[in-house]
Amino acid sequence: MERTVCELFAGVGGFRLGLEKASKDWDFVWSNQWEPKRKSQDAFQCYIHNFGESDRHVNIDINKVDKSIIPNHNLLVGGFPCQDYSVASTGAKGIQGKKGVLWWSIYETLKVKNPSFILLENVDRLLKSPSKQRGRDFGVMLACLNNLNYSVEWRVINAAEYGFAQRRRRVFIFAYKNDTRFSECLEYNSLREYLHKEGFFQKEFPIQDNSNPKKIPKEIEFDYNGLVDVSDNFSFMFLNSGIMRKGKIYTEETLPDFKGDVKTLGDILEKDVDEKYYLNGELDDWDYMKGSKRIERVSKTGHKYTFSEGAIAFPDPIDKPSRTMLTSESSKNRSTHIIRDPQTNRLRKLTPVECERLNGFDDNWTNKGMSERFRYFCMGNALVVGLVEKMGNALVDIFKKEE
Ligand SMILES: C[S@@+](CC[C@H](N)C(=O)[O-])C[C@H]1O[C@@H](n2cnc3c(N)ncnc32)[C@H](O)[C@@H]1O
Repeated sequence: MERTVCELFAGVGGFRLGLEKASKDWDFVWSNQWEPKRKSQDAFQCYIHNFGESDRHVNIDINKVDKSIIPNHNLLVGGFPCQDYSVASTGAKGIQGKKGVLWWSIYETLKVKNPSFILLENVDRLLKSPSKQRGRDFGVMLACLNNLNYSVEWRVINAAEYGFAQRRRRVFIFAYKNDTRFSECLEYNSLREYLHKEGFFQKEFPIQDNSNPKKIPKEIEFDYNGLVDVSDNFSFMFLNSGIMRKGKIYTEETLPDFKGDVKTLGDILEKDVDEKYYLNGELDDWDYMKGSKRIERVSKTGHKYTFSEGAIAFPDPIDKPSRTMLTSESSKNRSTHIIRDPQTNRLRKLTPVECERLNGFDDNWTNKGMSERFRYFCMGNALVVGLVEKMGNALVDIFKKEE
């Protein structure tokens, strides 16, 4: 099977970099990146800087792309936002999802281009959204994929639990057509056995034999009468791992089984850091922001309530993996990392290169004409490249067997 790839929501290219680290033989036939509401398209430019100018990398709102112009490909990849996936009936016209919701662009591409394999990334909240109808959005997504004859596996992966220097937890979703060779290995006694023995994630991200005893695994029939039915009525507590195949869903709270080396925040720090990253005289602000607090507040409707939040370690310990990096990393913000520099013993922010290292990008990957603020932003949006590299290794094997 040709290793042709389409990369949607490419950002600065985390999926491509990860897959190319696993093998140079992936052929990226089309990719797309467009930053809403911004004139300068820095992430798009950064991608071109790193992978080369090409008319295959397109800077247009994906909602406006006629999906039939996308070249055929066997693997579709992308990290996209968690939005409202509900659908409504529009009478004779069929059904409609909310405007601008990016899942529908992915669905449209799948319908038109029919790739055999799909690898997606999202925040783990996707599995539980929305709060008033737990699991509806992921249910809609699974139903869409089921309608197109895909089986789907998902796994919430905390990069630090597999040796990486950042505690970044994201759900990865792998889907494959039910007529691929890979899907044949699903002829197992049970979906549980499959997940533990042959699952896509199991080889590179091993799990323990026993699942988390606090959460009971569940298997259900995935019966529905169209997408509107799922959107209106489906609710389910998806756990961190699972599989959907031909009308059945199995989910389980798995536990990582990792025995390799563990990286820490201290391992990725730069030496001789510029003075501008050091804090000067603003310690009280940081102390307050990072500290625990209880504040009496009044809502717009006049209702009194207590806002409370716990303390965040300050400074951030460098002998452990870091907390998750957010898009707001450049601002003076409670979740911004502050470390005590081991060389100078003074407090400072992380540098853009350190943020790149936390995600496993090459040094200065984003140092391509964009502002420092946007460099931090792009890293808050991106993924841990090493995770995709590992998935890339598994994909190389799978593609070989499809030949
Ligand atoms: C979660 S980020 C993905 C980051 C990427 N995986 C990386 O490694 O940098 C989602 C990306 O989708 C882009 N995006 C948002 N809306 C879009 C749209 N309507 N069309 C195309 N891209 C869009 C954002 O600019 C952002 O770069």
